[in-house]
Amino acid sequence: LGTPDITSDDIDRVTAVLSSGALVQGREVESLENDIADYLGTEHVVATCSCTTSLEVSLRALGVGPGDAVITSSYSWVATANVIELVGAEPIFVDIEPTSFNIDVDVLASRIGELQSSGNLGRVKAVIPVHAFGYMADIEAIAGLVTDSGIPILEDAACALGAELDNKYAGTVGAVGCFSFHPLKSITTGEGGVIVTDDAEIAEYARAFRNHGQAPGPVRDFVMVGSNYRMTDVMAAMGRSQLMRLPELLKCRRRLIETYLHLLEGEVQLPAYDAQRHAAQSFVVRLPPEVERASLIRELRDQGIEVGTGTVPIPYTTAYARKYGYRDDDFPVLSQVARDAVSLPLHTRLSDDDVERVALTLLDIIRRQRGSS
Ligand SMILES: Cc1ncc(COP(=O)(O)O)c(C=O)c1O
Repeated sequence: LGTPDITSDDIDRVTAVLSSGALVQGREVESLENDIADYLGTEHVVATCSCTTSLEVSLRALGVGPGDAVITSSYSWVATANVIELVGAEPIFVDIEPTSFNIDVDVLASRIGELQSSGNLGRVKAVIPVHAFGYMADIEAIAGLVTDSGIPILEDAACALGAELDNKYAGTVGAVGCFSFHPLKSITTGEGGVIVTDDAEIAEYARAFRNHGQAPGPVRDFVMVGSNYRMTDVMAAMGRSQLMRLPELLKCRRRLIETYLHLLEGEVQLPAYDAQRHAAQSFVVRLPPEVERASLIRELRDQGIEVGTGTVPIPYTTAYARKYGYRDDDFPVLSQVARDAVSLPLHTRLSDDDVERVALTLLDIIRRQRGSS
């Protein structure tokens, strides 16, 4: 389904750090931060040990805490909502758009309207849109709905390094953006993440929080209660090496998506696609209603093809359904996608022939199931 693209160059750079003896929060981390700032054109980049910790620190830096609410997408890796809970706030989930899998801007607008008329909009201290599977959400449109209320946008760009819309990179449009370098992302540091922002105060907060609350500078002082969310130099060295190949990796992933689109057109519901706008982290299609997903997945696995079921319908997970009492019809599009989404293999070690085999096997199973239904 996914596999990291590690070269001998990556390994050599990691080995060099291991031999140097400087393993934590040294020059490699600072250099990776600078490289990412150059690539994205942002003022500040703060590296951490994961996108999850980056999101959590960003919420804290935005002043989100107990009693507050944060609006976010209902369809994402569960970390997007968990960080809201971890800082003591309450997530307000919004249904998604059926082909981009991103937050539905019209549903968001009506949710904001409801919160305003009930006098509850003041509790909302941030909005976290997610660039689902790497496809950039329309952050400008979302900003248009909340900037008058002074609500900041924290972009969950975990999957979206390199995605662009209207000449702006994912992660750079809102007040803060967070990226992941988990092994399934386009570039990896093993685990790892970064916070990007043009806001010096947010960056300063994040730098201190990730390092036990210690203020940067020569004098050791702890200016807040923080934690250890640091990235190691081993990770950063690998990240720098991988970042150099990002354009080539994105090109390969996008080409594979285009092959899938060509082969599957008219047979399954294809995702929204535009090469520049998509960082091509995952390729997710939706099955026709008469196809039974579980047996399709089993049949594909029997033929050596690993597929997934998209990402997480967060309000319907046990933890969130139990806490907030969500029911299956609260998010109609999410409910459908949770039943019919299938993620197909997408990584740089696949050839066009591999993609063709996956697509043709999928189509064969769909046609057989249709024939027998
Ligand atoms: C949308 C989204 N947000 C957050 C995360 C968390 O990233 P990490 O695994 O680096 O903590 C992921 C990871 O897959 C993700 O896909």
